[in-house]
Amino acid sequence: MSLKSQDLFNVSNKVVVVTGGSRGIGEMITSGFLANKSKVYITARKEEALVKKAEELSQKYDCECIPVSGDISNTEGIDALVKFLNDAEPDGIDYLINNAGAAWGANYDDFPESGWDKVIDLNLKTPFFLTQKLTPLLEKKATSEDPSRVVNIASIDGLHVPLMETYSYTASKSGIIHLTKHLAKTLVSRNIIVNAIAPGPFDSHMLGKAVNFDYSFIAESVPRKRIGSPEDIAGLCIYLCSRAGAYTIGETITCDGGLAKLL
Ligand SMILES: NC(=O)c1ccc[n+]([C@@H]2O[C@H](COP(=O)([O-])OP(=O)(O)OC[C@H]3O[C@@H](n4cnc5c(N)ncnc54)[C@H](OP(=O)(O)O)[C@@H]3O)[C@@H](O)[C@H]2O)c1
Repeated sequence: MSLKSQDLFNVSNKVVVVTGGSRGIGEMITSGFLANKSKVYITARKEEALVKKAEELSQKYDCECIPVSGDISNTEGIDALVKFLNDAEPDGIDYLINNAGAAWGANYDDFPESGWDKVIDLNLKTPFFLTQKLTPLLEKKATSEDPSRVVNIASIDGLHVPLMETYSYTASKSGIIHLTKHLAKTLVSRNIIVNAIAPGPFDSHMLGKAVNFDYSFIAESVPRKRIGSPEDIAGLCIYLCSRAGAYTIGETITCDGGLAKLL
């Protein structure tokens, strides 16, 4: 047993998969693992940007960041990623971070069915099927002393009702929070621990587009008076994946500067 921080929070030499790792929150989490000497597979649809990001991060952190491009919102894309990982890591993977997500905003009266299908598929169905199909690889590395981990990136919008009219998004995020508990119950006996993080506002394509990349108004509304930083989200994710988080199961931990609870 060691209670030293370098042992408690150690994630070195682990094999990590971060979906949607090419930018935003996924890039922040990927950077955190690379900075602490994990090998990280990142996924996204836009191959050129993904490959460039993987090269940039590998160089910056002197650690292996491997791009795997493809659309994981459907079975075909999920199966292709699972096959790639089985071929590349036959001895197993340690952590799966289900981060890739999409949002859709429209007035209540005009909200289209396509805005449900796209969001529910990627935000809710994909984390289930990707976790299901990667369970054998996660199990290969999992032991009672050092369980494998799944971290689902939810949102505080799954806990409260936001200002914007994003009905399918809030429902998908509420769904992933409950699914996290259900998966946690199923997988704990297989030495796989499942938790979720509910971020508040972070600099990203998704949020930036909605506010013209001016976060000042949002920052003002957060009790901590700023948006989230890479340290905030990477720190929490590393906690959940390391020895320190090995007794925390089925939780959804907010990372929002107090936005969901203190307003
Ligand atoms: N930013 C925030 O303030 C905030 C707050 C709460 C929760 N979140 C959650 O955090 C997660 C990351 O969001 P973000 O804000 O960082 O978004 P983002 O900047 O839009 O990044 C999304 C990532 O997912 C990838 N992606 C999107 N659709 C995909 C698909 N069908 N298949 C594979 N990859 C796909 C994107 O790459 P491609 O476009 O190349 O596919 C990108 O790498 C999401 O689950 C989001 O709901 C974000």
